Amino acid sequence: MSTPKERHDQLVREIQAHVHRYYVLDDPTVTDAQYDALYNELVALEREYPALVTPTSPTQRVGVEPRGDLQKYERPVRMYSLDNAYSADDVRTFDERVRRGLREGDKLAYVAEPKLDGGSLEIVYEVEGGRATLARASTRGDGKIGELVTENVRTVKSLPLVIDVGELPVKALTLRGEVVIYRKDLDTINAERERNGEEPFANARNAAAGGLRMNDPREVAKRPLRVSFYQLVEGPLLHKSHADSLEWIARVGLPSHRRQVVCQSIDEVLSAIDDFDRARSGYPFETDGVVIKVDDYQQQAILGETAKFPRWAIAYKFAAERARTVIRSIEVQVGRTGALTPVATLDPVQLAGTTVSRASLHNFERVTTMDMRVGDAVEIEKAGEIIPQVMVVLHHERPEGTVPTPVPSECPECGTKVVRAGEEVALRCPNRRCPAVVRAALHYFTRRFAMDIDHLGHSLIEQLVRSAMVSDVADLYDLTVEKLVTLERMAKKSASNVVAQIQASKARTFDRLLTGLGIPQIGQVAAKQLAEQVPSLEEALTVDVAERAASIHGFGPAMVEGVRAYFGDGENRAVLEKLRARHVSVPFVRAAVATEGPLLGKSFCVTGVLTRKREDVHEAIRNAGGTVHDAVKVGTTYLVAGEKVGQTKLDAAKKRGSEVITEEALYAMIRGE
Ligand code: IVH
Repeated sequence: MSTPKERHDQLVREIQAHVHRYYVLDDPTVTDAQYDALYNELVALEREYPALVTPTSPTQRVGVEPRGDLQKYERPVRMYSLDNAYSADDVRTFDERVRRGLREGDKLAYVAEPKLDGGSLEIVYEVEGGRATLARASTRGDGKIGELVTENVRTVKSLPLVIDVGELPVKALTLRGEVVIYRKDLDTINAERERNGEEPFANARNAAAGGLRMNDPREVAKRPLRVSFYQLVEGPLLHKSHADSLEWIARVGLPSHRRQVVCQSIDEVLSAIDDFDRARSGYPFETDGVVIKVDDYQQQAILGETAKFPRWAIAYKFAAERARTVIRSIEVQVGRTGALTPVATLDPVQLAGTTVSRASLHNFERVTTMDMRVGDAVEIEKAGEIIPQVMVVLHHERPEGTVPTPVPSECPECGTKVVRAGEEVALRCPNRRCPAVVRAALHYFTRRFAMDIDHLGHSLIEQLVRSAMVSDVADLYDLTVEKLVTLERMAKKSASNVVAQIQASKARTFDRLLTGLGIPQIGQVAAKQLAEQVPSLEEALTVDVAERAASIHGFGPAMVEGVRAYFGDGENRAVLEKLRARHVSVPFVRAAVATEGPLLGKSFCVTGVLTRKREDVHEAIRNAGGTVHDAVKVGTTYLVAGEKVGQTKLDAAKKRGSEVITEEALYAMIRGE
């Protein structure tokens, strides 16, 4: 018989080995039930002998308490990002530059490896007595300063908390990698979210990168995050080349993509890129390109870094994926503003990681110009890799008997004659009692950045409107458990959840209410600026809001007009009165306005996929004395472009004379560099 301590050690090792086989090698040797039996035995053993519990036991992965705001972490070695290449020519230019930086005739090898599409992460393992123990995990942040997410990362099952590495001449191992979610796991959590009336994730990257920064490790544990390492910072102290380090990482049992290819020439690199592009749809994770790195560490050191990028590596980005499918029907959706949007139902097709069966056709002008018809074969692409878009109609393949898509003259929902306002391309239903408009307005009101009401999904909103229980946002606050249980499929427990969520939203600040009302031209940022002038609902009902709006720096005529139209309207005012009577929203407290700082006198519009939450970036700008605009307008000094920035924004910046800068450049400005 072994002692409890021996049995504990044995179980820990066995469980770790199974976890590794399951999550990293994708090759389990036991069934889930057998695994559970081992795990349960460990839990029971630790319950009986609490002294055996160590921080690295597999039972200690799930943090017990939410850990408040993320702590900043300044790392000793900066995390660089990569310069991009979009064509074979770009890759050849990179090769020439590298060769110029080395001695002529030097042997040069590259490693080509998949560029995983998730969030970057650094993990430090402390090394002692031949074992490495997970000590710290941090996000990239601005490269130098990241955020500590250790507790969250401890929930990632594929990541060993402790591992045998043998005797090493270093005290710490600093590994960099990507946190990702596998495609199949994304499908599972999205199905679950939809069942709960939550918005599904648009892609694996958002789900993964967002998961890492969540507040409650118990919530993080529910997201099937995985980590894949692509760089060992101490590599040059331990190995000769990057390829050696990658091999070592996999050998000791740390997770990595294990798909690197060593290339002896740039032609070999280009053919590896082609191979990756063909193979990647079969990978369990999303990739958006190939990273090419000089293999030899000495050569890497000679080449060094620019302010932003290492000179020894580049990221080749794949062109947006396209898929072919067929339009099966074209429906008309009526949005929050009454705009009619044609939406195509498509034969389901795999595209960039999700199954696509619908695509917005934007407006009828586009449908007519491109002559899109039901029955047409089309090519679709994801705009910014999120929203699928019809790029090409394959007219020459058109089957017989198709008919031009009719342009509606009446609202499909309420039958009101549609209008086209001035220069606008959109057709609109002018009836604001139109059930479709009401539903969309209610949904917008509940969104996270507005009143943040959970559990009020599309189908419940639809029931509420159909049963006439709710006809404007203020009616939500009159809902009771007794009323809700009369709806189909509504149990008492969910009903009280919904009511509790709605009631809790009364404590949101007035700027969020302003956002949720969907005032024309007033987004999140403008709503905050407006709330600085008019901080409460009470005040909004007594003063001339449009006049105050006109005094705000950066509010153009269209915005002021939007405010005037909204507050000048009797029906809107009636809703506002109802909200006031129900005590919805608390006064907005104006954040201290920085009157100095490196960004004083400069204005910014922030767009694209960023390494931090957009709101946090806005706050950082304001704290440094800058101002923030929702959109690029005349006078916007800078457009801060994250990854996947839209062409429209870039065009607007060009037209308005705004300089386009990266997120990193913004942080450098904030630091006064
Ligand atoms: S190497 C100095 N390798 O891409 C080397 N990065 O666009 C820096 N990424 O911030 C990174 N897969 O988060 C490297 N195989 C890979 C990668 C990879 C994904 C991410 C990483 C980086 C971003 C740069």
